[in-house]
Parts: sequence; C-alpha cells; structure tokens
Amino acid sequence: MTHEDVFQEVHNQIPLNRKLTLIHENLQNYLPFIDRIAFALYDSKTDILRTFLVSEPHAHSLCLYESKLSEVPSLLALKHERSPRIIEDISRLYGDSKEHSRRIKESGYRSSYTLPMFSDEALLGFIFFNSRQKSPFQGADLNLLDLYAHLIFSLILFELNQTRVLLSSLKTLSKIMHFKDPETGAHLERMAHFSRIIAAGLAAKGKYRIDDEFIQFLSAFAPLHDIGKIGIPDEILFKPQKLEPQEFQVMKQHTLKGREIIDLIISNLQVKPTAYVEMLRHIPELHHEKLNGRGYPHGYEKDQIPLEAQIIAVADIFDALTSDRPYKKKWTNEEALIYLKKHPSEWSAEIVQALEDNMSKIVEIQQKFKDKE
Ligand SMILES: [Fe+2]
Ligand SMILES: [Fe+2]
Repeated sequence: MTHEDVFQEVHNQIPLNRKLTLIHENLQNYLPFIDRIAFALYDSKTDILRTFLVSEPHAHSLCLYESKLSEVPSLLALKHERSPRIIEDISRLYGDSKEHSRRIKESGYRSSYTLPMFSDEALLGFIFFNSRQKSPFQGADLNLLDLYAHLIFSLILFELNQTRVLLSSLKTLSKIMHFKDPETGAHLERMAHFSRIIAAGLAAKGKYRIDDEFIQFLSAFAPLHDIGKIGIPDEILFKPQKLEPQEFQVMKQHTLKGREIIDLIISNLQVKPTAYVEMLRHIPELHHEKLNGRGYPHGYEKDQIPLEAQIIAVADIFDALTSDRPYKKKWTNEEALIYLKKHPSEWSAEIVQALEDNMSKIVEIQQKFKDKE
C-alpha cells in the first residue's frame, strides 16, 4: 500500500497564504462545510488587529482590514476568556456593526468558529473558520478543527519567530557598531507605515498581486532600507555639506553593503525566514534604483526593480523631501507630490498616485511620528 504525505509541502519556503490554502484543501476532505479560513495578526504594542492570511476559494472580499481590538468587544472577550467561540447563525448577530462583520455577512457566511491563539501569555492573533451553512460546528468536528488550528498557528508562529530573530539580530548589530543613523528613528517608523499605506492603496485598486502577507512583511522590513550605512565612514555619513563626487561614490555603497549584511546574517543564523526573504534582500540593495536606469547601484530599469524596492523608494524620497535637513527646509506634502509627479521616468506614477490617494493617512502618521525639534 502506498500513501502520500500531503502535508510535506507546508515546510517548503512558500508564502504562508499558500500553506493555508494547502491545509484548507486537505481539511475540506473531512469537513467540506469549511468555506473560509483566516488568520488575523495582533500587535500588542498598538492594540491593532489586522487581516493577515486568508483561504477563501469562492470569494475575495475580506482582506486589507484593521481595527483596534479594544473596539471589537466580542473578540476582546475571547482574549480574556482564552477560549474559542462558536457563532451558529451570523445573520442573527446585530450588536457587532463593525465593517468587517458586515463584510463577512455580505459574503454569505452563516456561521463561524473562532480561536484566540496565544504564545505563552501573549495573544498573537485569531483563527477564523467560516461556513456558508447554519450551525455546522458540532461535536468531534470541533476537536479536529482545534488540531488544524494549531497546525496552522504553529506554521505562522515559526515564521514570525524566524523573522523576529532576524530583525533583532540586525538591531543588535547596529547597537554594537554604535551605529548612529543621520536619519531619525521617527523616519524609520514613518517608513514602516508609509510603505504599508502605499501597498494597501495599490492592493485596494487591484494593482499588482499584493496581499496582506506582502504588506505585513514590507512594513516590517522597510526600516532596514539603510542598514548598509553601518559600513559608511562617519565623516561621509555625517558631512553637513554637499558630498564631493568621490565621497558620493562611497555613500552609494550603502546599498550593496546592506545586501551583504542581510545575506551574512541569514547564512550565519541559518534561518529561512519566510518566502519573503527575497524582499528583505531587495529593500536595502535596490531602494535607490530609478525606473529610467539612472539610479544605483546597478542602474536597473523598470521591471528589473521589484515592486517592494519601488515602493520603498517613493516612501523614502517623499519622507526626505517633507523633512528638515541640515541643508534644506522641509517641503509641504503638496510640493513633494508635485515633485514626484514631475518625474514619472524615475518613480512609478502608480505608486505616487497611491501615496496621494491616501494622503489623510499619511498626515496622521506624520503627526504621530515627528522628528525632534
Ligand atoms: Fe538609502
Ligand atoms: Fe531613508
């Protein structure tokens, strides 16, 4: 007798969303009424719960959503009780008027089984099983769902931990090197948020194949774009005057040095962080490339520059223009947008458009993360 281990593939370096789909396909052999599985990621620092993964073969409606957990009392209760919840008939729920619940109902889901997922004491997110049937969640099926939920959660936890190890090693490295970035910590915070806002804006318009997982990793990796500056001598890095041409040549090396540092850490730690590890390599290396091939370090053109690097480039320039520098006063957001729009051969017009379309969110982040006077 032969038997195929259908779960082998989930340990390959493929996006988590793909892993969730594979598991969902398998689960449907036993519980065909499960029409959707989703995972929402919780950030305890900001109390924000965000859609992260979803497997939903016959619908596509519920990504790119975030909310404060404190504003969703029904889920908050699950956090405190540390126990799952069955909703037998969603259509009879009136209390929860959150947009997300409304969208779930509108997509035709009738019932749900939700589990809060913890690592030690910390809440890391929620797993949702949804069905188009009424009251299918019963008896021993629930035990099977618990097992699947914990398999899914283990895979997620593994990747989140790998990413965390990687990011904290990079942070430690910059501390040990007494690395002082001439750019501020607030700049790095803004970069994480600007890149998320832009990517979500592009995704909402159905541009490119961007999902929540892409956005989550983009935002996590964005602050590392200039990690290679660790390798640039202070007298060049902190020179208040304009750099001489040969100094600028040295400065440009921060892109390749950044890539080297990332490669080194990945191989030393022997981590296989996620399928998004290429994104982590691209961001430091390629964030100064321009569409017309006049950027550096390689002079790549258009499609040779991956989307993540194009988004980071726009966010970085926009933030530089709208910040005070020793040699210039900051521009207004409008002036910076006009400048970016005047140079569509350098920066993607679609990305600049996504930035402009979401200016109110950008302003919110600018007010929250200001440079110290
Ligand atoms: Fe840079
Ligand atoms: Fe920067």
